[in-house]
Amino acid sequence: MIAAEDINAFYGPSHILFDLSFSMAATERVAVVGRNGAGKSTLLKSLMNAGPRVEGKVSWQGRSLGRSAAYKRARLGLQMVPEDRRIYHHLTVRENVRIAGHARPSSAPRLDPDAVLAQFPMLEPLRDRMGFQLSGGQQQILAIARAVAAHPTVMLLDEPTEGVAPAIVEDMVGTIRDMCDSTGMGLLLCEQNLWFARKLTDRIVVMDTGRIAFDGTWQEFAARPEIKETHLAL
Ligand SMILES: Nc1ncnc2c1ncn2[C@@H]1O[C@H](COP(=O)(O)OP(=O)(O)OP(=O)(O)O)[C@@H](O)[C@H]1O
Ligand SMILES: [Mg+2]
Repeated sequence: MIAAEDINAFYGPSHILFDLSFSMAATERVAVVGRNGAGKSTLLKSLMNAGPRVEGKVSWQGRSLGRSAAYKRARLGLQMVPEDRRIYHHLTVRENVRIAGHARPSSAPRLDPDAVLAQFPMLEPLRDRMGFQLSGGQQQILAIARAVAAHPTVMLLDEPTEGVAPAIVEDMVGTIRDMCDSTGMGLLLCEQNLWFARKLTDRIVVMDTGRIAFDGTWQEFAARPEIKETHLAL
């Protein structure tokens, strides 16, 4: 279980998350949706301690994470794929995946990069290409493959569909679902694309201006059209 209790997050003097509480089981698949600037990425970064200053308690598997650094949280099984992807442009696809394996928990076996790439049909034929030679969608899949190589218990995935063509977005649904099914990993997915989020998760958290406006199943969300109207419509 990952849990944030009454957290407040800040960038310098800007107060972004307000007394926010959130928790999910390590095997759950949860979407975080909300307008631009609602605080979705800040929530993910706050759980990882990767950017904002966070006040309040974040715990993982029943233990407080205190002020531990993001790389230490990765070693405990939390892997974030940030919005900006952060692949190595001057390494091949295979090298990118191999190096990412170093961030895995010490108890986890080392995964063969080729075995990781085999889970990503779109990437496999490109294994010897350099990062900079990939399209935006391919880079996004590589960022996900890199996270998988680090053996996460929960993956925090930030807007994987951003800037990706619709046909590739459809492929990504199958790829990410297969990845979660085969590894049993939990998924915390920030998304603007509700269709995509609905396909991959069982629960939806709606954020608005640094607070959680709704948290429930997709059925409960569908039964409350005013939530979408108030917090998601432009
Ligand atoms: N590094 C930063 N420094 C200062 N303010 C920031 C920083 N990153 C984000 N913010 C501000 O924090 C607020 C929340 O941003 P955040 O990135 O969490 O939103 P988001 O819901 O992920 O939006 P988007 O859908 O556009 O990705 C915004 O007002 C944004 O301008
Ligand atoms: Mg964001």
